Amino acid sequence: MPDRYAVIGNPIAHSKSPAIHARFAAQTNQALTYERLLAPLDGFAATVHAFIDAGGKGANVTVPFKLEACALATSLTTRARAAGAVNTLKFDDSAIIGDNTDGVGLVTDIVRNAAVAIRGKRVLLLGAGGASRGVVLPLLAEDPAELVIANRTVSKAVELAAQFAANGSVRGGDFASLQGRFDIVINATSASLASEVPPISPEVFDGGSLAYDMMYGKAPTVFMQFAAQHGAAVRDGLGMLVEQAAEAFHVWRGVRPDTAAVFAELRAGL
Ligand code: ATR
Repeated sequence: MPDRYAVIGNPIAHSKSPAIHARFAAQTNQALTYERLLAPLDGFAATVHAFIDAGGKGANVTVPFKLEACALATSLTTRARAAGAVNTLKFDDSAIIGDNTDGVGLVTDIVRNAAVAIRGKRVLLLGAGGASRGVVLPLLAEDPAELVIANRTVSKAVELAAQFAANGSVRGGDFASLQGRFDIVINATSASLASEVPPISPEVFDGGSLAYDMMYGKAPTVFMQFAAQHGAAVRDGLGMLVEQAAEAFHVWRGVRPDTAAVFAELRAGL
């Protein structure tokens, strides 16, 4: 019997994770299945336990259950504890190990796939919600010259930065008081969903900047369009999606799939 894995969310019908993991499994000759599980909004824990009882070995967790998954886990990795959220569960006897591979997915996509170093650079992170919190520690681990977190609700940016003050040079603030250019500008707000751009000055970009939107889709997001108009190179979050999946696959199976081919295939199919 192949080992069973799943992605759990609500909604879940459009998740690309089953396609990604099926390709990883074929590539690495791993005998596993990976399915979509729609959990009722009030039934995340019950869905996880039923899956474990049915022989599930691990699961990815997506919107809106990443915080609940953090609470459900019987132990957390350092990066999941720092993120305060879990996107990867590993079931081991009676243990439910909570991990978070989103941050490493982002960093791998920037540093390896886009070939843009973070070390020594000025990095701007837009947003201070769940998506932002999940990537602060992995970004600081790359040793940027400075990480500035900017958010519409300033207090959330300041609090988030304060939580990570021991991990590197990080400060929080508002959009209006941003000074100078940044090498890397990461949009972790949900503004793109409303076709809005966080109100930042175009002067944060120049021809040497990378503007990264954690969202992805058929067309560039409005944030990417704005950044491109002001000279930045742009990248969407499809690579982060594939890399966080590869890291989860490694957590479960101990092998690293080749992400480039899967990324190209997904891009072509969007
Ligand atoms: P997620 O898990 O996607 O991060 P979230 O926790 O609800 O979702 O956080 C959404 C983030 O996007 C927040 O930083 C939010 O700013 P506030 O904290 O001020 O609410 C930000 N955001 C959402 N819509 C925005 C917009 N139109 N312009 C700027 N920031 C926006």
